[in-house]
Amino acid sequence: MSHDHDLRLVAPFSPTIIKATMPPGVVERLNVRIDEIVASDVEVAARDWSAHLAGAVSTEIRFTDVIRETAELTDFLFDVARTYTYRCENALMHFSDYERTEELEAKKLRIEIKEGWINDMVAGDYNPAHFHQGCLYSSVGFLRTPPGYEAEFAADKARQNTAGCLQFIDSRSAVGVKNLFTVKPVAGDFYLWPSWMLHCVYPFRSPGVRRSMAINLALA
Ligand SMILES: [Fe+2]
Repeated sequence: MSHDHDLRLVAPFSPTIIKATMPPGVVERLNVRIDEIVASDVEVAARDWSAHLAGAVSTEIRFTDVIRETAELTDFLFDVARTYTYRCENALMHFSDYERTEELEAKKLRIEIKEGWINDMVAGDYNPAHFHQGCLYSSVGFLRTPPGYEAEFAADKARQNTAGCLQFIDSRSAVGVKNLFTVKPVAGDFYLWPSWMLHCVYPFRSPGVRRSMAINLALA
């Protein structure tokens, strides 16, 4: 082909999701702290966050204070949220023929942690489709899965492999674009997305706890 027709894709409306891996030491330390909290009826009652959430989830506890005082975690969150913001903005700036993105890089983005909570789910728990209000970004870090979960997920193969999964929902579909995007929980995996995006969590059957940490973020 002699001409490339100056082809350039632009995706200004697609909701973008970023995936990262949490530092392993952080996952271990958070689990130790959460295990202490859930072992105490008094602390669970004091931190109960279920009235603010949509889920049919056994234990939902507010965790914002611990998140804010765990420097390794806040550093990680700021890195991921800043990278996400820069990359999304850069993609559009390049399309608009902005060669220089130094200004954007130099702009110190201040990321604010709005709320964070822990979801300890057991067999049969689920989280119906919902979105998060009062923030710009929502995120989740997976901290633990039940011992039998891998086998259960593998056995689910004949269907849609949704057992215990987080699923993002967007009404539009196109070539190369899905309207459902399903994420299998793996301890250490972390995802961040625009807070308006609908998502849900499917139930599982394995004994044990599926633990995730949800964090709402904003640009200050
Ligand atoms: Fe959620």
